[in-house]
Formats: sequence, C-alpha cells, structure tokens
Amino acid sequence: MNKTIILERRPVGKPVLTDFKFTSEEKPLTGTGEILLKTSFVSVDPYLRGRMSDVKSYAVPFQLNQPISSGIIAEVVESNHAGFSKGEFVSGLLQWKEYQKSDGIGLLKVDPAKAPLSAYLGVLGMTGLTAYLGLTEIGKPRKGETLVVSGAAGAVGSIVGQIGKLLGCRVVGIAGTDEKVEMLKSKYGFDEGVNYNATSNMKEAIAALCPDGVDIYFDNVGGDISDGVLANINKFARLIICGSISVYNETSVPVGPRVEPLLIKSSALMQGFIVGNYATKFPEVMQQLSIWLKEGKLTYSETIIDGFDNIPRAFIGLFEGKNNGKMIVKI
Ligand SMILES: NC(=O)c1ccc[n+]([C@@H]2O[C@H](COP(=O)([O-])OP(=O)(O)OC[C@H]3O[C@@H](n4cnc5c(N)ncnc54)[C@H](OP(=O)(O)O)[C@@H]3O)[C@@H](O)[C@H]2O)c1
Repeated sequence: MNKTIILERRPVGKPVLTDFKFTSEEKPLTGTGEILLKTSFVSVDPYLRGRMSDVKSYAVPFQLNQPISSGIIAEVVESNHAGFSKGEFVSGLLQWKEYQKSDGIGLLKVDPAKAPLSAYLGVLGMTGLTAYLGLTEIGKPRKGETLVVSGAAGAVGSIVGQIGKLLGCRVVGIAGTDEKVEMLKSKYGFDEGVNYNATSNMKEAIAALCPDGVDIYFDNVGGDISDGVLANINKFARLIICGSISVYNETSVPVGPRVEPLLIKSSALMQGFIVGNYATKFPEVMQQLSIWLKEGKLTYSETIIDGFDNIPRAFIGLFEGKNNGKMIVKI
C-alpha cells in the first residue's frame, strides 16, 4: 500500500498534527510515457503554511482532503518514458506520498555522484537560489557594507550570511538560541550574532553590533525582530523581504511601526520577492553555488528527520526552531 498525507483541516494559528491525516491507497500503475517515483527526501518549508490557508497568494492554496505537495527528491523505480531510466533520481514539486506516478513534466534529474541527494532540496535547490538571488538582485552588496540576516541559522539565512561574507560584507545574524548564534560564527563565518530570545531590546542590540549602521537587511522573519533592525538602517539601505515566519501563524493582522517615514528619511529600498521571479538565472546561480561548495567556500547544515510518518512533525518543527539549516525528511 501507498501512504499519503492529506490536509484534513486548515490550521488555525500554529499548525498541529491533527491538521494532517494519513491515508492509504493502491500503488499507482504506470502507462506509456509515465514513470513510477519512490519518495526519498521531502523538503518541509515555512511557505507551505501559507498554502494551508484559504487565502489568495503567489501559490494556490492546498485543497482540503487532498495531498500536500512540496519539493521532493524521488527515485525512478519503473519507467515507461524514453527520457527517464530506472534508478535515476529526480527533483520536483511532488505530493506527500510514498509512491506516485509522473509524466516527467517539471522534473529535474539530480545526480547523487555530484552532491548528496538532500543538498538538491537545500543549498543546491530553492534555498540556495533564494539566498543568492535575493541578496544579489535586491541587496546589491558592496564590499565593506553591513549586512544583517534574520532567521540566520535556518536554511536560507545560513547561506545568505556566507554569500555576504564572500562578497565582502560585514555580516551580523539573528537566531533563536545561543547555540545557533555560536554556530553562525564558528561554522558559517558571520562576524557577530544575537539571540533574539535572550534580547529584550532588538533596536539596541543591533545598534551595538552594527556601529556603522545597517546597509542591507535580509529578512526571513518579519515582526518585532525586523522593527528593531529597521530602526538602525543607513541612508540608501536595501531591505530584502524574503519571509515573515514570525507572523505566518497570526490570526489577526499584526500591527507595527509605520515604515513609510523611515523609508523616506533614509531613501531606503524595501522589496519583497519570490525566488521564481528570477527563474531565468537559476542555471548560472546553481553553477556558482556548486563551484563555491566544491572549493569549500560554502558550507551547509541539514536537520534530517527520519520516516514518512514524521513529515507533519518536521513541518511544525520549523515554527519551533527545531532545525539547524535545511529541515528535510528522509524516507
Ligand atoms: N521569497 C522566497 O522566494 C522564499 C523562498 C524560500 C524561503 N522563503 C522564506 O524564507 C524564510 C526562511 O525559510 P527557510 O526555508 O530557510 O526556513 P528556516 O529558516 O530554515 O526555518 C524556519 C526558522 O525560522 C525561525 N523561526 C520560527 N519561528 C520564528 C519566530 N516566531 N520568530 C523568529 N524566527 C522564527 C526558526 O529559527 P530560530 O531558532 O532562529 O527561531 C526556524 O528554524 C521563511 O520565512 C520562508 O517563508 C522565501
């Protein structure tokens, strides 16, 4: 039989295990031009929370009682398709199922000889692309500038900080525990870090860590943390709005300082983005990230949770800071 995870209930506030339901169905039969895929690694991502609500966004909401989908690495275990052979691995937006069939459209072949398969969901996948493209396209970093990164010990944040260093910035990271802050400096080479859970005044903490002010802010979390960073921006600062995980579970519209006067006063640019906006640049960015990895200039962390049954738990763990680097489930 073939286990599947469906969205049984739209989460209210923070997702809970009972929002998800395990069902079982027959393993699909493949026809001409189709392949059978066996799930190997599942990416759980904060943006999936948005798709679980019935609100209009850049990605369509998941339907109730239908399988959830996310980035998945799968093995081709049967092939009736000229373009795919048994034993190959692919990456794609696939369903939370142990087995599924595909016509191959939208799948990308990945090579386990070139990098560990899980890396194609992280540093060599959406994570790395988001980090590089958000930072370079909007942040336009210049040598000597101060870059602040929130969600710095997470998948995207940990890569942003390292790229910032490679491009000559002074990098300050914000994360949720002392251990994570230590890792920012010891593993990823950040210059400074701050534990937002141990800091009562983020505005002062950032002022102390950024004596020359903040030129670029790569924001993964939004909310109070970002309010504290924004109070320290320099003239012509670039504010890269990548994610807002601190407010994804809010049930009412969060209210904070009005940023418009601040943006005028500092002639700052605040820009949100979706990594898909830059799809034409994916091949060249993947090449650059692969080179840096091979040269040992870029490193990455993964929190790998074992077992199909733990996919919902791993997803919920994102909102509890349970991951260092990319959160992945190994099947
Ligand atoms: N725009 C795009 O195209 C794009 C693409 C990919 C990801 N994103 C966004 O980028 C952000 C990072 O994604 P990711 O995949 O790298 O996830 P991630 O950072 O690896 O995982 C989430 C992390 O967020 C932190 N967090 C959770 N709740 C928080 C809260 N209330 N306040 C502050 N921090 C909190 C936790 O770390 P701590 O222990 O430090 O709290 C947790 O480990 C997300 O907001 C995501 O939606 C955007």
